Amino acid sequence: MTNEKIVYETAVTQTLNQHASVRKFMDKPVPDDMLDAILEAARRSPTSSNMQTYSIIVVRDPETRQKLAVSAGNQKHIEQCDVFVGFLADIHRLGIASQMHGQTLAKSLESTMVATVDAALVGMSTQTAAESFGLGAVMIGGMRNQPQAVADLLGFPPGVYMVFGMSIGWPADNAVSADLKPRLPQALVIHHERYDQTDPRPLIEEYDAQLAAYYDRQNRNQHSAAWTGPIAKRLNSPARPHLRQTLEGMGFRFD
Ligand SMILES: Cc1cc2nc3c(=O)[nH]c(=O)nc-3n(C[C@H](O)[C@H](O)[C@H](O)COP(=O)(O)O)c2cc1C
Repeated sequence: MTNEKIVYETAVTQTLNQHASVRKFMDKPVPDDMLDAILEAARRSPTSSNMQTYSIIVVRDPETRQKLAVSAGNQKHIEQCDVFVGFLADIHRLGIASQMHGQTLAKSLESTMVATVDAALVGMSTQTAAESFGLGAVMIGGMRNQPQAVADLLGFPPGVYMVFGMSIGWPADNAVSADLKPRLPQALVIHHERYDQTDPRPLIEEYDAQLAAYYDRQNRNQHSAAWTGPIAKRLNSPARPHLRQTLEGMGFRFD
């Protein structure tokens, strides 16, 4: 008897399995109604206690996108894509809901996390929905380089920051390769019943080599230890050390 593996597949898993970030776009508009369908689908995402602690901002204006590109460290695809969408943690609206009942919103680390997670979930759903239409997209965490500048530019009230943005458009001809960026092996990231504390280094080293080979195929010069090398280099001091102070100034709490 053969032990044939059943292939479980849906349109959704197919879309997810083909994901690759796209940073080069055609000069072709994303129809408003298509974007609307994408964002409406994304808005079905689960949200903590139905609080819907996020907002979405759609930016098409080229001048504004040029400024956003600069604040994200000159990420040109923010200008070159057809539409830029920001995913905002938004506790401002919770404050208003509280006021409507004579209450004050008690801000905390938890409300900051809830809002950040809500924004991330709706952002991920947006990317998947966009890709399901054949669009390309890339998330832009660079929006947290200068959160106050982004807030000023886009007119955020206190209690709103952009968790990440997303450049969306029709992928340029050479933008999508069938050669997808490999992920860490399943055995390292999926645990069953209890966290497996077996020494992960052999599998990490294998992945380092696999990712280096991927970058070689893309003709991109990278470290031979392609995963651990950049991590060790980048994270030997805290990333965005100003972030907590800036977000506190923007109305978020971390205690
Ligand atoms: C929250 C988040 C922020 C990201 N920020 C950026 C960014 O600022 N610029 C960029 O080019 N890619 C950004 N990316 C894309 C990642 O670099 C990319 O997803 C990762 O390298 C895996 O590659 P793939 O998506 O093509 O498989 C971001 C991804 C996530 C999830």
